[in-house]
Amino acid sequence: MRVIVDKDYQTLSRRAALFLAGEIIRKPDTVLGLATGSTPVGTYQQLVKLHQERMADFSEVTTFNLDEYYGVSPDNQCSYAWFMDHHLFGHVNVQRNNIHIPNGLTQDVELECRNYEDKIQQAGGIEVQLLGIGRNGHIGFNEPSSEFAAHTSLVELDQGTIEANSRFFDSRDQVPRQAISMGIKSIMKARRILLLANGSEKAEAIYNTLCGPITPQCPASVLQLHPDVTIMVDKEAGKDLPREC
Ligand code: GLP
Repeated sequence: MRVIVDKDYQTLSRRAALFLAGEIIRKPDTVLGLATGSTPVGTYQQLVKLHQERMADFSEVTTFNLDEYYGVSPDNQCSYAWFMDHHLFGHVNVQRNNIHIPNGLTQDVELECRNYEDKIQQAGGIEVQLLGIGRNGHIGFNEPSSEFAAHTSLVELDQGTIEANSRFFDSRDQVPRQAISMGIKSIMKARRILLLANGSEKAEAIYNTLCGPITPQCPASVLQLHPDVTIMVDKEAGKDLPREC
């Protein structure tokens, strides 16, 4: 795994955006796996800027988002569909029918999950998967104890994740308890992975991801088994990392 420790969030976000823009230049019809949460917001801002400067053309890009809250409509401002529109899709020239986000309102979850996996395969697989990380080491919504062999499925959110994500809702009670999430296996199939983390509250998760045992208790630790992972952190998130793990 390559680890880059940047001085601050701004620098990290710029670096991550350049990484993704570089991928789009290399392969204009690339397939990107995208993430939500506060962490990638700066990256998306920088990507929009690069697009405005004509350095990132999304016209042939296909995207698959990691997850969506179950039971939440895409019009709801707390949905990840709305988040993506607001932070990225609404500001770049990606084609609407090339955007994929699990349908949180599906009547048939199993079918939705199977179709989502099929669509990723039909698109040729994910070239670069962008990831944030939860304080407990979750990736997507694959909480501790998730099976490493899991595909896209309906998952239960951890109490800690509900707590952490309540900042995006009016109250803790409004945070959905379930989500449709790409599984660890779906994530591991991506050809390249870019994981971002900032802030000291992510330091323990980053330490466990890089230096801890490979265990479902820290879902992101599975990335130690992936052949092409880049981890970009700011100083705070990287503060517990030794020179060598
Ligand atoms: C959510 C998302 C994850 C994200 C995590 C961390 O639970 N499902 O994909 O990585 O939150 O979010 P944040 O970047 O806001 O800390």
